[in-house]
Amino acid sequence: MPSNTYWDNRYNNNDIGWDIGKVSNPIKYWLDSQIDRSKKILIPGAGSGFEAGYAYAAGFKNVYYLDFSTVAAKKFKTQFPDFPPNQILANDYFNLSNFNDFFDVIIEQTFFCAISPNKRVLYINKAYELLEKNGKIVGLLFNVNFNEESPPFGGSKEDYELLFKTKFNILKLEACYNSVSPRLNNELWISLQKP
Ligand SMILES: C[S@@+](CC[C@H](N)C(=O)[O-])C[C@H]1O[C@@H](n2cnc3c(N)ncnc32)[C@H](O)[C@@H]1O
Repeated sequence: MPSNTYWDNRYNNNDIGWDIGKVSNPIKYWLDSQIDRSKKILIPGAGSGFEAGYAYAAGFKNVYYLDFSTVAAKKFKTQFPDFPPNQILANDYFNLSNFNDFFDVIIEQTFFCAISPNKRVLYINKAYELLEKNGKIVGLLFNVNFNEESPPFGGSKEDYELLFKTKFNILKLEACYNSVSPRLNNELWISLQKP
């Protein structure tokens, strides 16, 4: 499992090929379509945090940035100085606990693919633990197999179905039609609800 030092080094060396430099289009579209902006949202493995910054500016005042790379978190703070510092969590997702209350939504954007496949069940269990009843994971998963050695770790619709159905109701797990162009046809849009 890549450590926070691994990710810090990648940010320090500007070796951040995953970073699209702006809010991801499908996530922007989802945020824009939400009427209830009081939702408590967690964005784990948020990196440069364009999704968190966009959500906050769009009126989601209850959005939390989480990344265990202190370099990424610092970059985010510099780029989004108005974002509330107490909503920037420089923690390990897997150690997040005793959180004062639960989240309504977890937004997934290239975090799942950053963790080792053998930790996927732990990702799902942690998401289940952090969400309210009826809370959702929404966002994007890669629908492509990459190498097995280092992130990004990919997968298929069938792999994800098998994994997520153990804990979540699968509302959507479908081809994403509005991906950013380099990821066109390689992403799935997910909406997974905690029963
Ligand atoms: C591929 S990057 C994606 C960043 C961002 N979501 C984006 O799309 O630009 C994966 C991010 O997950 C973070 N990360 C990896 N494992 C983590 C963990 N266990 N807890 C918190 N953050 C983690 C890394 O530091 C990195 O910023």
